[in-house]
Amino acid sequence: MLEIIKKRYSCRNYSDRPIEREKLERIVAGARLAPSAHNEQPYHFYIATGEVAQKIAAARSFAMNKFIAKATAFIVVTQQKSSALVGLAKRVTDQDLTSIDIGIVCAYLDFMAQAEGLGCCMLGVFDEKRVQAALNTSQRVRLILSLGYPATARQQTAKKRRASAELASWCD
Ligand SMILES: Cc1cc2nc3c(=O)[nH]c(=O)nc-3n(C[C@H](O)[C@H](O)[C@H](O)COP(=O)(O)O)c2cc1C
Repeated sequence: MLEIIKKRYSCRNYSDRPIEREKLERIVAGARLAPSAHNEQPYHFYIATGEVAQKIAAARSFAMNKFIAKATAFIVVTQQKSSALVGLAKRVTDQDLTSIDIGIVCAYLDFMAQAEGLGCCMLGVFDEKRVQAALNTSQRVRLILSLGYPATARQQTAKKRRASAELASWCD
């Protein structure tokens, strides 16, 4: 696990090689095991390839994320309505459990893509209406993962992250 965590990075340069369907199926099979509050699994994955992937690639916002033109597949994560119980928990605890669940499952998708030898980048910026139109859904689109075989091998470099001492407080 630590090896995958160290190696993963946001890949923004993809080759033309299409992704085998079995790989995409394995990514979904791993991500479906993610934990979620009350086991609600309040998300749906749209696996876009071919023409639909091209439509997702065109649904950019603010001229950002030009690199996704070369992605050969996307996993679009939409939000499904939570049950009354999670809705109640959200009101009582003031915690957005649905967003937390979606963040966790996206991390699982990202790790699975890395484990399959694919490049992956999470996308938080996109034209939601155009993505919904491409998928013929009215569900909220919460995150998109662009996927493809990396065009170039990446040298592993130290990640720019806050130091553990700054991130963590030890409370004895
Ligand atoms: C919720 C979320 C949204 C993101 N949105 C974008 C995006 O729209 N475009 C992009 O190029 N990278 C996006 N990223 C990738 C981050 O920029 C990247 O994870 C961060 O800079 C750390 O780099 P690394 O993933 O290579 O370790 C997003 C990451 C997350 C977790």
